[in-house]
Amino acid sequence: MKELMISPGPDELLVCVMAAAANPKDWKASEQLGFTSNPGDDMAGIVEAVGSDVLEFKPGDHVAALHRASHPMEISEKTTFEEAAAVPLAAMIASLALFRHLGFPAPWDVTSETSASGPHLIYGASGAVGAYAVQLAVKAGLYPIIAIAGRSSNYVQSIIDPSKGDKVLDYREGLHAVVFKAKEALGGKVLYHAFDCTL
Ligand SMILES: NC(=O)c1ccc[n+]([C@@H]2O[C@H](COP(=O)([O-])OP(=O)(O)OC[C@H]3O[C@@H](n4cnc5c(N)ncnc54)[C@H](OP(=O)(O)O)[C@@H]3O)[C@@H](O)[C@H]2O)c1
Repeated sequence: MKELMISPGPDELLVCVMAAAANPKDWKASEQLGFTSNPGDDMAGIVEAVGSDVLEFKPGDHVAALHRASHPMEISEKTTFEEAAAVPLAAMIASLALFRHLGFPAPWDVTSETSASGPHLIYGASGAVGAYAVQLAVKAGLYPIIAIAGRSSNYVQSIIDPSKGDKVLDYREGLHAVVFKAKEALGGKVLYHAFDCTL
C-alpha cells in the first residue's frame, strides 16, 4: 500500500489529530446554509512535522488549534486532547466579543486605549462561549458580572467572584424574575454592555 506523504508549508504544522470538537456552526452550516461538507475546525493533537519557517514548535509537541488558522497553542501534559480541542473557537469568540466588539480592555493588552468598564451581563454564561466570557471577564477585572445560566448555574457560581458583586441569575425563573433580579444586582447603575451567548 502506498504511504501518503504530506509536507507542511513553510509556516505550517502537520498535526496528527487526536481529538476534534464540534461547534454549533458545524450543524448550522449544513442546516441553515446548505453546506454539504463539514471541514471541522477545533482540534488537538501531536505535531508530526514543522515547516521551514516555524521556530516555536517541534515534532512531538502537543498542540490545539483552530484548523488552518494561525496561532496554534502548546498544551500541557496535564491537559487531555479532548479538553484542549474544546478551547480554540469558543475562547476566540468570547475574546473577540468582549475585547473587540464590546471594547473592554483585554488583560494582556497593556497599550489598550479602550476604556469600557462597569457592569455587564452575560446571557448563557454556562455554555462553551459564555463560560470563557465569564472567565476572561474575571481575568480582565471587569465587574460586576451578571451571569444568566440555568441547569449549570452551580458551575457558573464557581467561576465568578461574588466579592466583586458578580451574581448568577437563573433564566428558568422566567423573564420578569431575571429582569427584576438584574436590576436589583445593578443597584441603580446603568447596564451598557451585554453579551448573548445562547443558541
Ligand atoms: N461554541 C463555539 O465555538 C461558538 C463559536 C462561535 C459562535 N458560537 C455561537 O454562540 C452561541 C452559543 O454557543 P455555545 O457553543 O456556547 O452553546 P452551548 O455550550 O450549548 O451553551 C448554550 C447556553 O445556553 C443556555 N440556555 C439554554 N436555553 C436557554 C434559554 N431558554 N435561555 C437562556 N439561556 C439558555 C444554556 O444554559 P444551561 O445549560 O445552564 O441551562 C447554555 O449555557 C451559539 O449561537 C453559537 O452559534 C459558538
